[in-house]
Amino acid sequence: MDVMKQTLTFAKNICIVLLLAGCQEEVKPIDPGHIARRLAFREKLNEALGDNYHEPGPEANAEQFERGKTLYPQLCGPCHGGRGDGKGHTGAALAFPPPAFTDSVQADFFSEQGRLQIIRKGVPGTPMMAWGTVLPESDIVGLYLYIRSLIGKD
Ligand code: HEC
Repeated sequence: MDVMKQTLTFAKNICIVLLLAGCQEEVKPIDPGHIARRLAFREKLNEALGDNYHEPGPEANAEQFERGKTLYPQLCGPCHGGRGDGKGHTGAALAFPPPAFTDSVQADFFSEQGRLQIIRKGVPGTPMMAWGTVLPESDIVGLYLYIRSLIGKD
């Protein structure tokens, strides 16, 4: 009977260990290095853009918006998610998680001009590339107008 009890306790402990290990895989720990790097990058962006960093974003433009909406699923969705929730299938495999555009707190981390500049120039050292080298400015603005429309649509 004792042996039986011991075996059961052992099995139970194994289950708990496996469960905890499983949970650890689910929850991605917050990497303080990642936060520090983003803060430093925001500082650099602010310096590079000067007063322009806090200028308002581009005005709504239906034609550019539609163009951005068309381009988004092919160019950005794989990482930032088709709905902009940050859950794209390529994005899931990245060391630097792609931000969710639907998250209003995250959207406020950079200014509007800051985010526009990120689309143009990318975030060096991360998978976020510089789209300004392959797209005309009007498409960059269109993409920005589209991602801006996703804020709060969780
Ligand atoms: C290969 C994956 C990938 C693709 C494709 C991609 N991004 Fe990103 N993007 C990222 C990652 C990763 C970050 C976060 C970088 C960091 O850690 O600072 C990012 C950051 C951003 C940011 C800064 C927002 C913030 O809160 O950090 C904007 C804006 C952005 N991307 C827009 C776009 C747009 C628009 C497209 C499509 C034209 C696009 N991205 C395509 C991976 C990608």
